[in-house]
Amino acid sequence: MLKSYKNKKKILVTGGAGYIGSHTCIELLNTGYDVLILDNFSNSSTSVIKNIKKISKTRINYIQCDLRDLADTKSILKKYKPEAVIHFAALKSVIESVRKPYHYFSNNVSGMINLLGAMEYSGVKNIIFSSSCTVYGKQNNFPVDEKCSLNQAQNPYAHSKQICEKLIQDMCNYNDFKAVILRYFNPIGAHSSALIGENPIGIPDNLAPFITRTAHKIYKELTVFGNDYKTPDGTCIRDYIHVVDLAKAHVKSLDYLLNKQEKFTIDVFNLGTGKGVSVLEVIREFERCTGVKINYKFGPRRKGDLPVMYANPAKANKLLNWKTELALKEMLVSAWKWELRNCKREFSFRNYYE
Ligand code: NAD
Ligand code: UD1
Repeated sequence: MLKSYKNKKKILVTGGAGYIGSHTCIELLNTGYDVLILDNFSNSSTSVIKNIKKISKTRINYIQCDLRDLADTKSILKKYKPEAVIHFAALKSVIESVRKPYHYFSNNVSGMINLLGAMEYSGVKNIIFSSSCTVYGKQNNFPVDEKCSLNQAQNPYAHSKQICEKLIQDMCNYNDFKAVILRYFNPIGAHSSALIGENPIGIPDNLAPFITRTAHKIYKELTVFGNDYKTPDGTCIRDYIHVVDLAKAHVKSLDYLLNKQEKFTIDVFNLGTGKGVSVLEVIREFERCTGVKINYKFGPRRKGDLPVMYANPAKANKLLNWKTELALKEMLVSAWKWELRNCKREFSFRNYYE
């Protein structure tokens, strides 16, 4: 029987059918929030909602809407009147953003502007925003903390996140909005049920889904982009974080935001483990904990890649009372379990090579 959610705090989750949004919805439902997902399903599907229900055994509502439609967005907010919005909905491919910058500004920036407008119109003042470590741009010292300056964006995706952060900042400075901005490092892995996970449409840009699909022989080989960086093994270093740890940080952020009495406030938090791991270390750990060999070769550097990026998560550890609990092994094993469960995809993706 599904749990009901009368008299619970209402949270609107934009992009809640996506990878990070779906994991966060489960944590919100498990904590007792009433959740409405707003999604245009451009990079997800309604089957995710069924699986969220299955995992959480809780009723969850969703509405198909594109944030670029201001009238629809306003009417949804006015009708549902949430306590807060968690805003995931955006396009997220760095490579695609270089090819189609307008697409990224239209979707990510116009979507943000409409959402803020709809929130103001309906009197909803609390927002949590999905930002990214990419807003830091090139840095010389690591780990990066929230006080580091935001340097030149390396691509339109990064620029769209910098702009959205500034827009939210102004709503908090000049309007009585309260906001938490979360800068994610590299989320990977999947829910332990293997019912939800990362499911990029087409050939993935990101490392983890490329590794699991190569292990699954959907792709012949993985290209490691560059082995001549000034890092211990020559490959890039990132801070990989389990998506379930990341999802839990959203619940902590929401509690923090809703309990905060002052208006006109904004808090920024890095969400990472604080540990830098190289591409080769990820591949070796995947092979070690799954027993599956990855066929890989070294290729040239990928344009726009930063050699090193990892977080100082001390602020989130302290103020949100949150820290990561799951190790790289759990990230990679859960990603592999998810890949195997989704093997139906295999045939359609094989077509790329036939
Ligand atoms: P995702 O693509 O899986 O989820 C995004 C969801 O938003 C999808 O369900 C999509 O259909 C929806 N969406 C997109 N544009 C929309 C619009 N205009 N109106 C309504 N719905 C729309 O992506 P994700 O990995 O879950 O990322 C969520 C957020 O986190 C994004 O803002 C992304 O930029 C940010 N982020 C992601 C990563 C990462 O590596 N996954 C890292 C840092 C930040
Ligand atoms: C980047 C951003 C992140 C953003 C994300 C969205 C930085 C530091 N991070 O993640 O904030 O949200 O894009 O997509 O800018 N790699 C390979 N072969 C592959 C794929 C990846 O070697 O086939 C390497 C990359 O060169 C990189 C690492 O794996 O060093 C991780 O890449 P990826 O998973 O794409 O994430 P980022 O580019 O770090």
